[in-house]
Amino acid sequence: MRQLHIELKDHSYDIRIENGLLEHLVFYIEEIYQGEKVYIVTDDNVAKIYLDAVRENLCSHYQVESVVIPHGESSKSLEIYAKLCEMLLEKEIRRNHLLIALGGGVIGDLTGFVSATLYRGLPYVSIPTSLLSQVDSSIGGKTGIDFYQRKNILGAFKQPKAVLIDPNTLKTLPAEEFNNGMGELIKHGVIGNVSLLRRLKEHPVIDEDVIYESLTVKKKVVESDEFDTGNRMILNFGHTFGHILELKRNLRHGEAVSLGMLMVIRMGMDLNLTPSYCYRELKELLEQFHLPAVPPDYKNHFREIIFDKKNISGTIQMILIKDFGQPILYPVSEKEIGR
Ligand SMILES: NC(=O)c1ccc[n+]([C@@H]2O[C@H](COP(=O)([O-])OP(=O)(O)OC[C@H]3O[C@@H](n4cnc5c(N)ncnc54)[C@H](O)[C@@H]3O)[C@@H](O)[C@H]2O)c1
Ligand SMILES: [Zn+2]
Repeated sequence: MRQLHIELKDHSYDIRIENGLLEHLVFYIEEIYQGEKVYIVTDDNVAKIYLDAVRENLCSHYQVESVVIPHGESSKSLEIYAKLCEMLLEKEIRRNHLLIALGGGVIGDLTGFVSATLYRGLPYVSIPTSLLSQVDSSIGGKTGIDFYQRKNILGAFKQPKAVLIDPNTLKTLPAEEFNNGMGELIKHGVIGNVSLLRRLKEHPVIDEDVIYESLTVKKKVVESDEFDTGNRMILNFGHTFGHILELKRNLRHGEAVSLGMLMVIRMGMDLNLTPSYCYRELKELLEQFHLPAVPPDYKNHFREIIFDKKNISGTIQMILIKDFGQPILYPVSEKEIGR
């Protein structure tokens, strides 16, 4: 078992990472909740595999209700948000009851948002089951839904009471979902944990320790910038180009971030900031995990970004690296890139 403590001003919490954790879930829930009733929110995919066992486990101590919504990003909508609140109210949820988010990032973001807003806030616990949610979305307190064709535009900061991770759930995750999380996991290594990169290279298995090491990077950033007003920006490493490729090439987010990281490292090399071995080693690691590793030329896309942002000065703040584990915010101008 590995454990991390997220230390925030008003609402600190623990993250537990343990193979087989779901089999004695009630033990961990009891640590943080002494009430009578819990409400599990999950999606249809995850429900099929895990809901019965989780319900049964919790039934020994609590009255358990559950709500199942359709899987996929389209559930992060105002309609499903309303429907979910309605179903919870029909099942007589009160403000002192506990919500349990059982699923990937979609379930986490949506349940967290309900937890931030229903009754002006009620407690929730996160049980992330996808790799992306285990290493990324379940910590940091960002919750929300998509609206007006924009992602995460309605939302709130809401910290969970606890995050409970069972790496065994990754065994049932489809390969493409695994890759999606792998992109962010490797990103954490690149911006903040050199030993994680070494470990992945020598022993490419995702276990309790790897999840732990990846989370230590986001933990540090989140603790230093709870409300995303500065330092959290480094988590966007690889995302400026990544977002463009995600749309244009119809790639999964994690795949697009993989290419985005290589592009921004190439940019750093051209600016004499990033040593070339970083490019070589990251490319090898991405290939090892079956992630795309042949990026397009970043220069065309850079001009596009400047144009898109109507950036008259022709300068953009980029997150580059001086080496693995050494991110730096760096203003890059169109002129420099045109060289
Ligand atoms: N809040 C944050 O800080 C933050 C950070 C990054 C991403 N996100 C959000 O996270 C979401 C993406 O999360 P995701 O990739 O987990 O997507 P997801 O929740 O849609 O899960 C991916 C798919 O895997 C299935 N699944 C999940 N766990 C499974 C398991 N153990 N076995 C079998 N199937 C399983 C789900 O049903 C779904 O079909 C996006 O909406 C994104 O905006 C939020
Ligand atoms: Zn991302």
